[in-house]
Amino acid sequence: MTKETHTNCSFCGKHKDSVKNLIVGEYAGICNECVDFCQDLLKDETPVVEIAPQPSDKMDPMVLKKYLDQYVIGQHSAKIMLAVAIVNHYKRIGKTTAEPELDKANILMLGPTGSGKTLLAKSVARYLDVPFAIADATSITEAGYVGDDVESLISRLYAASGNDIAKTQRGIVFVDEIDKISRKGESTSITRDVSGEGVQQALLKMVEGTVCRVSAAGGRKHPGGDMIEIDTRNILFIAGGAFVGLDSIVKNRVQGTSIGFRARVEASIDTDLDMTTPDDLVKFGMIPEFVGRFQSWVSLEELNKADLVMILTQVKHSYISQYSWLFNCDSVELKFTDASLDLIAERTMKNKTGARGLHSELERVLLPHMFYLRQYHAQGIKTVEIGVDQVEAPAALKAANF
Ligand SMILES: Nc1ncnc2c1ncn2[C@@H]1O[C@H](COP(=O)(O)OP(=O)(O)OP(=O)(O)O)[C@@H](O)[C@H]1O
Ligand SMILES: [Mg+2]
Repeated sequence: MTKETHTNCSFCGKHKDSVKNLIVGEYAGICNECVDFCQDLLKDETPVVEIAPQPSDKMDPMVLKKYLDQYVIGQHSAKIMLAVAIVNHYKRIGKTTAEPELDKANILMLGPTGSGKTLLAKSVARYLDVPFAIADATSITEAGYVGDDVESLISRLYAASGNDIAKTQRGIVFVDEIDKISRKGESTSITRDVSGEGVQQALLKMVEGTVCRVSAAGGRKHPGGDMIEIDTRNILFIAGGAFVGLDSIVKNRVQGTSIGFRARVEASIDTDLDMTTPDDLVKFGMIPEFVGRFQSWVSLEELNKADLVMILTQVKHSYISQYSWLFNCDSVELKFTDASLDLIAERTMKNKTGARGLHSELERVLLPHMFYLRQYHAQGIKTVEIGVDQVEAPAALKAANF
């Protein structure tokens, strides 16, 4: 479009002399009548309930954090660290100038089981609308062994992108259970043999950036089938693991230094995974080159009782809303007393399975009711309220009575 002096309204075509005002910009003009008309149009529009972030907003860590808050309870510092790391990654790969050269910073997520690592990674991918693939590190084998090799990660990402090379190259690969491929180290929890180290080695190149050949049709490699090349340089790798035993490595180190530098030795010092150093991870059994390729660290905390109650009731697509839906299918309303929710959370905490345990607790309590739902409906029972007694001893299954 060229710049010109506008004497007519670009919308209705009227000449400036035949209207009251003509507002002229560099590339277009608009008359007062069209402005009025547009205003009416805008007024009539039904209000938009959820405004999708505009592309520029999307790259604001605060906006990403707010989005994550809808799905992930607690973990505030983890969400902040992750949001910043993600935004920086997409800034780097969107760079159009040669200078400065920027290093890729893949993300390492440390945290107890069921604390939301996988949920965070999935939520980020949904937010960004980029292809996302999850793989379990324990299922990956070194090339030449039976099982999935590291290239299968990229095949999965390619499939998730709908076989679109450009999209694949901007996607996210989440490698879960990364701690299970540690070599035998000083930590007592490690049971895997040296092949874990081989998988770490195999992942190195891919994480850093290499060209991978995968089947053009997606899926497994077909001998003789067409292959395409995927550059992994801009693919973001997120590795997640519970790192059971890492806390005692951190504690030993921190207490060790305190003995060296302080005259008065405190019996116990509070440590958490936030204080982990690359050395601690190497002690745990990760190879230094591997640790070096994951510069952004995000550590998650164990969820407390209040978090668990919020996960049950507040989070989008909460477990309780899912069960309520199932009950509603038979026109029965499902209710919980506050005390029963507290007790479910307390029992879950004892299991040490994080929020994942909530699901099995609810299943245990609700199963008998779900078995009888059709009968309730037939008998005109409209509401089931779960109290503390039912959490302690779920309704008995007495099918013979029906
Ligand atoms: N912080 C959280 N907020 C809301 N829901 C959560 C949270 N943490 C866990 N959940 C719930 O628990 C389920 C399991 O969590 P997730 O898979 O993210 O755990 P994880 O940290 O990856 O555990 P693991 O180390 O065992 O893989 C999720 O699907 C989600 O329903
Ligand atoms: Mg997980």
